[in-house]
Amino acid sequence: MKNICVLGAGYVGLVTGACFADLGNKVICLDIDESKIEALNRGDVPIYEPGLAEVLLRNVRSRRLNFSTSYEDALKTAEFVFIAVGTPSGVDGEADLQYVRMAAKSIAKVMDHPLIIINKSTVPVGTGDWVADIIKKHQEEPIPFWVVSNPEFLREGSAIHDFMNPDRVVLGSLHHEAAEKVAQLHLPLRTTIQITDLRTAEMIKYASNAFLATRISFINEIATICERLGADVKEVAVGMGYDKRIGPAFLDAGLGFGGSCFPKDVRALEHMALIHDAHPQLLRAVLDINRHQRRQVVVKLRQMLGGLNERRVGLLGLSFKPNTDDMREAPAVDIARQLHREGAYVQAYDPVSGEIAARILPDIRLAESVYEVAKDADALVVVTEWNEFRHLDMERIRRNMAGKVLLDGRNIWDPEEMAGLGFVYSGVGRGVNMNSSDREGDLS
Ligand code: UGA
Repeated sequence: MKNICVLGAGYVGLVTGACFADLGNKVICLDIDESKIEALNRGDVPIYEPGLAEVLLRNVRSRRLNFSTSYEDALKTAEFVFIAVGTPSGVDGEADLQYVRMAAKSIAKVMDHPLIIINKSTVPVGTGDWVADIIKKHQEEPIPFWVVSNPEFLREGSAIHDFMNPDRVVLGSLHHEAAEKVAQLHLPLRTTIQITDLRTAEMIKYASNAFLATRISFINEIATICERLGADVKEVAVGMGYDKRIGPAFLDAGLGFGGSCFPKDVRALEHMALIHDAHPQLLRAVLDINRHQRRQVVVKLRQMLGGLNERRVGLLGLSFKPNTDDMREAPAVDIARQLHREGAYVQAYDPVSGEIAARILPDIRLAESVYEVAKDADALVVVTEWNEFRHLDMERIRRNMAGKVLLDGRNIWDPEEMAGLGFVYSGVGRGVNMNSSDREGDLS
């Protein structure tokens, strides 16, 4: 059992704290937001993440997990301090490090024994050195400490599973011994642990996210070409994925990537490249294609409905992806706003993000079910591929709609089946198939 302090009770901090406690360590999660800590102490979980509430509760009950707003309390017995505070996008896509700076200063002022300080927040390359400088500068007396970078690779919606079953753990430090000690904490996860230097570890995080985002933009560009040429991008991705060098993951064409990570991290990497005189042309294209995907839905709808003014458009799903209520950089936000600007009446249904959406999108009407959204709608658009949308009574939906347009932004339905039900169906990258018999006549 080790004593661990986690700074930041946000998404990454809570999952990290809860999971390390579940592995048998004693953990204190600190946040400067008093209302958040009060809520957590009452047993309320401020974010929607499958499985998190159970792990938190289990470990609070067994007294392995505590919450605090006091740095003195949180650092008193800690051997390891994880920094897991937010790094939002600042101007020009640059990561805003004010919370990391505050955390480093506070550690420096309060620490009274040696500490291993592990940075989990996604920070520009070189931040680990900068954190070390801040701590040195603000310490009242020189107490040894070691900085380790430990980038986080978990996904929202499957964060607990991802933490407990990582593909790898990356640790970067100028002090091998400190990295080894952090590696020991991760041994129960039985995974590959890569120990490298600080800056390389920081870059591994950006390069991984940018690469995954690139795959998505790549397949979305292929989707656009498929549409023009009469090929089906879903099948194309399957065929590509069989190649072991390519693999099947992150090849789902759709409305592009959103969330708090990919857009922000690709922009931050682009910014880092620019200020260091590199020419990030691929990263720019990745972002450009991603913006195009969102715009394209509105263009398609306008064409399919013969204009958008006073049309009723229903959106299925609002969160940036299924199994989360997170609306940050969600395609739904841009799409709903544009539809509203063009005079359409927008109504939407999302299984969990309704409340958050109501604040961000005050002009759209939120419904209690898909069937309510479908009633009298001229068009329906799948924005987020929640599992429940795959098992709908599509016949009933078709009957209740005023129009027939079904725009499947996540390719969850079979085009022929939907056409058979009377929908005017359009997916992403699923061109009208011109097989040889259509072109050359039946061979039989
Ligand atoms: C992503 C990474 O997958 C994590 O490894 C990383 O730790 C995290 O960012 C982070 O940096 O904190 P996350 O943003 O939670 O995780 O979500 P993903 O499941 O990766 O999806 C990101 C976006 O890509 C979503 O909008 C999703 O709809 C989109 N996507 C994903 C596609 O459009 N197509 C795909 O094939 C896969």
